[in-house]
Amino acid sequence: MDFVPRYKGQVDAALEEFFTNKIRGKSGIEKEAISKLREFTMRGGKRIRPLFMILGYWLNSDIDEKIIRASISLELMQSYLLIHDDIIDQSEVRRGGPTFHRMFSYEDRINEGVSIVCADLSDAYSHEALLATDFSSDRLNSAMKLMSEIVEMTGIGQLMDITLSLGDNITLDDVTAIHKYKTAQYTVNGPMKMGAILAGYKSPEKLDRYGLPLGIAFQIQDDILGMFGNEKELGKSVVSDFEEGKKTHLILYTYEMAKKNEVQFIKERLGKKGISNADFERVKEIIEGCGALEKTRELSRKYYESAIDSINDISNSPNQREQLKAMADLMVRRSS
Ligand code: IPE
Ligand code: IPE
Ligand code: MG
Ligand code: MG
Repeated sequence: MDFVPRYKGQVDAALEEFFTNKIRGKSGIEKEAISKLREFTMRGGKRIRPLFMILGYWLNSDIDEKIIRASISLELMQSYLLIHDDIIDQSEVRRGGPTFHRMFSYEDRINEGVSIVCADLSDAYSHEALLATDFSSDRLNSAMKLMSEIVEMTGIGQLMDITLSLGDNITLDDVTAIHKYKTAQYTVNGPMKMGAILAGYKSPEKLDRYGLPLGIAFQIQDDILGMFGNEKELGKSVVSDFEEGKKTHLILYTYEMAKKNEVQFIKERLGKKGISNADFERVKEIIEGCGALEKTRELSRKYYESAIDSINDISNSPNQREQLKAMADLMVRRSS
């Protein structure tokens, strides 16, 4: 079964229907805001989180229309998290187009203000979409509670991400902890557990052994692609992490492994806007040449393998096991 294209198509259709209903009869700034949210949400996106929710649901139920409808709540969540993240990170490109706050043509401060509020709308829609499904109130309550916990953890991860990179004391373990909070919970672990809860799966906590390491591996891959990826395929900038001063595993390993003058070269440029192409190529050569790129890839593999090791405990079904493996592969062997 071609799980990903099949359910991605159904998730897209449910999202499209949600926005069509929302936009109906609206005018003025309200219409403009919802139209822009629709454009941003539908422009691209791998739909990983709905797919993990559907996969979690499948562990204890046949996949049905209800879970597809519930799963769009996570894509509406992804939209508001990305809108905020792109303002925080001052990113200009997302999903191959302008970031949300670059889709308006007011002055910068107003663009950001309007975007923050549009993200709030998407937050409300995320709840609305989940609550509109007719699961039993017990299951819906538990899924809702988990959704709040996921958003809380993501927020804590974002706070750590924004502040810990400021000083010189951030450690490799801090970076991994940030990945666990800001990405793993809302990308793999939480969505799967929400799906499993909605299906009445008895031990959703079992999914931690799969979801947490896989989410960490996914974010490490995001950091690798965020420097070494292809901008066209990725749909976002490959210099912005560096210009933003993000201290990723790649950077921290380089500080440990590269020559003194090479580390100096990087430190003088990290976190500054407008790096030249030649200097950025040199930075990448240093990271690769000293072995930090390979060491970061190894770390991602280690987390990926730990996730793979948990699969047999999660399901006895060969089809489900195969899909858990296929999703794990998709998370780390990706170029976008
Ligand atoms: C981007 O998530 C934010 C991270 C947690 C790295 P995705 O890589 O899933 O982005 P889309 O939804 O496919 O655009
Ligand atoms: C995004 O993290 C995490 C959330 C949206 C919560 P990043 O800032 O590392 O992701 P990209 O690279 O902008 O997608
Ligand atoms: Mg970002
Ligand atoms: Mg960020």
